[in-house]
Amino acid sequence: MNILVTGGAGYIGSHACKALAAKGHVPITYDDLSRGNRWAVKWGPLLEADIGGRGAAARGARAIPAGGADALLGLCLCGRVG
Ligand SMILES: NC(=O)c1ccc[n+]([C@@H]2O[C@H](COP(=O)([O-])OP(=O)(O)OC[C@H]3O[C@@H](n4cnc5c(N)ncnc54)[C@H](O)[C@@H]3O)[C@@H](O)[C@H]2O)c1
Repeated sequence: MNILVTGGAGYIGSHACKALAAKGHVPITYDDLSRGNRWAVKWGPLLEADIGGRGAAARGARAIPAGGADALLGLCLCGRVG
């Protein structure tokens, strides 16, 4: 499946993408890199954009590859332990 992962360049998101790819899925990272890292996006394409604000839904829809996304995994909030 194509799985849109918001926050996919972050700590948990990048590990989630790795696990999804290991199961044969294509993780599509949607991340503004405000706290994440480009180098952590290794298992699928990166859409570098803010999920908030005007036009966010349209930007996300345009970025999804042909075939669409089958699921969404949302991990891009800014809470942090420690
Ligand atoms: N790390 C933990 O121990 C832990 C524990 C429990 C829950 N959580 C929750 O899991 C989620 C992810 O945590 P994490 O540690 O991976 O955080 P993280 O900061 O490493 O990752 C968050 C990612 O979201 C991106 N992001 C933030 N705002 C964005 C926006 N507006 N548009 C697009 N991308 C945006 C950041 O660039 C970053 O890559 C958070 O909601 C956090 O509260 C984390």
